[in-house]
Amino acid sequence: MIDLFSRFDEMIALRETVRGAGREDPFGLVMERVLSPTEAICNGRETILLGTYNYMGMTFDPDVIAAGKDALDRFGAGTTGSRVLNGTYAGHKDVEAALCEFYAMDHAMVFSTGYQANLGIISTVAGKGDYIVLDIDSHASIWDGCKMGDAEVVPFRHNDIEAMEKRLKRIPEGAGKLVVLEGVYSMLGDIAPLKQMIAVARAQGAMVLVDEAHSMGFIGPNGRGVAEDQGCLEDVDFVIGTFSKSVGTVGGFCVSNHPKFEILRMACRPYVFTASLPPSVVATAATSIRKLMHAGAKRAHLWENSRALHGELKALGFRLGTQSPQSAIIAVIMPDLERGAAMWEALLREGLYVNLARPPATPAGMTLLRCSLCAEHTAGQVQRIIGMFERAGKATGII
Ligand SMILES: Cc1ncc(COP(=O)(O)O)c(C=O)c1O
Repeated sequence: MIDLFSRFDEMIALRETVRGAGREDPFGLVMERVLSPTEAICNGRETILLGTYNYMGMTFDPDVIAAGKDALDRFGAGTTGSRVLNGTYAGHKDVEAALCEFYAMDHAMVFSTGYQANLGIISTVAGKGDYIVLDIDSHASIWDGCKMGDAEVVPFRHNDIEAMEKRLKRIPEGAGKLVVLEGVYSMLGDIAPLKQMIAVARAQGAMVLVDEAHSMGFIGPNGRGVAEDQGCLEDVDFVIGTFSKSVGTVGGFCVSNHPKFEILRMACRPYVFTASLPPSVVATAATSIRKLMHAGAKRAHLWENSRALHGELKALGFRLGTQSPQSAIIAVIMPDLERGAAMWEALLREGLYVNLARPPATPAGMTLLRCSLCAEHTAGQVQRIIGMFERAGKATGII
């Protein structure tokens, strides 16, 4: 018998490197209690959360929680069914209406996760004989959506407009084209030059899908994302998003103005062949989305936090993923996995949680400590975070 688990040996060895010498497991941390969007108890210790993607701090919003409790009481714990059978409740229609209001678009389709939204829309929209042209640093859910469908897949270098254009020009005449981009790339926290890229895609006759998972609620005058901020949202055919970041719960969606969009409810397998979100989840999401429409002050404070943390970490001598703060993600580049894991643990002992990211999820084989700021982090917490980075950085020899 061939042990099918032998394919994981490299991964097992990597895990041992990270956990070596009795170290804390960076991929096995338990939140024993969660006190607020920015604080939890981990290993019995109060810990500041700086790696949750809870950008707008909606997880503990009193109106959001009340909406969830009310829906739980009135509609029960779950739908036990697909959206196209018994799994569409009033709440699912309401959260789709909230998304249409939020983005000022005609159609919204809610999935059980953002992962499934990418999987479903990409694999359904682009079929046999079509071409998907995508940034090489795209999220795993985008790659998996490509893998699941029958279209040809053509990657181009990260944020490289010319490379994208070259690939589009090579596509045979008459073939359908879908360009897939992200607003914010979550590994380094950098944004895409969407305005130029979308103009090129359009000129080459391509439809455009933009994943705004990490910008919704925060970037753009109305929090609609990078495409809104750069003034090109009307040229986007499909916006993909998630409820698991700024919205503060779980779920995914696609919004669009395409007149035939609704047919996807019948054709899209990751929408049809899975149970819909629980009523409490869609109620919390709808309440959160409607509050995010009026969250200008929170957005401004989150920008302040991002600028402060980026500036001070840079001044301390850390290598960062971007020259200037472009989003609520600040990636601190580590020299290697071993020292990255040591720094991660030193920060945890200081009382700070960040994400440790490593290849293959990261670009160019980098090990990163990814920080995601929250609109609920106070200026005082940001200063404490900077002190923790300074002490941990010196203790581990990173700075
Ligand atoms: C760019 C991007 N798209 C999609 C997703 C998937 O979102 P979800 O957590 O809702 O599955 C993520 C989550 O990490 C993401 O970063």
